[in-house]
Amino acid sequence: MNTILAAVAAYLIGSLSFAVVVSKLFGLADPRTYGSKNPGATNVLRSGNKAAAVLTLLGDAFKGWLAVWLAMMFEDQFQLGDSGVAIVALAVFIGHLWPVFFKFVGGKGVATAAGVLIGIDIWLGVATLATWMIVAFAFRYSSLAALIASIFAPFYYGLLFGPDVKMLAVAIMSGLLVYRHSQNIANLIAGKESRLGSKKAAAK
Ligand code: G3P
Repeated sequence: MNTILAAVAAYLIGSLSFAVVVSKLFGLADPRTYGSKNPGATNVLRSGNKAAAVLTLLGDAFKGWLAVWLAMMFEDQFQLGDSGVAIVALAVFIGHLWPVFFKFVGGKGVATAAGVLIGIDIWLGVATLATWMIVAFAFRYSSLAALIASIFAPFYYGLLFGPDVKMLAVAIMSGLLVYRHSQNIANLIAGKESRLGSKKAAAK
C-alpha cells in the first residue's frame, strides 16, 4: 500500500512539466507549439531564452531527484525497500512522459532521468552526465547525447552496484527514453536532426 501511495505521489510530481510552467512564467510561447514541439529544455532553448531553458532543465531534473531522494529517505520507515524505490523512480519518470496535468502529452525524459540517476547515486549521475557532455560537445546533438548516455546508464549502475531491481528500473527508464526519441533517431539517420545552438528543429 505504501509503495502504491509513493508511486502515485511520484507520478504527480513527475507530471509537473517545467517547460510549460517556466515558459508561461517567462511569457514565452508554449513549447508544444514550436520547434520539435517537445516540452523539454532543449526545445525551450529554441525560443532563444537561455534562462528559461536552464530553469526547465533544473526543474525537470529536480523533480526526478526529489522523488527518489524522498523514497530513499523514508525507505525503511514506510517499508518501501529497494523495489519501492525502483517503482518510485519509474513513476516520476512516467509522470514526466505522460503527465496527468497536461493531457498526457509530456517530454522525452532526459532531465528527469538525470535527476533520478543523481537521486539513486551521485556517481551514477556524474558518469551519465559526463557521457552526455562528451557526446554533446563532440557531435552537438542533444538527442544523440541523451540516447548514448541513457544506454550507458544501466551499465554504469551494474558496474557500481551489480544487478538488482534498481538497475532494472534504470534499464526500463532508458528503454522508454529511447522510445520517446524515435523521431530524433529517424532525423539523425536522415541527417535532419538540429544541432545544439540551432533555433530550428527538424520534423516533429
Ligand atoms: O531533451 C530532449 C532532447 O534529447 C531532444 O529534444 O527538442 O530536439 O526533440 P528535441
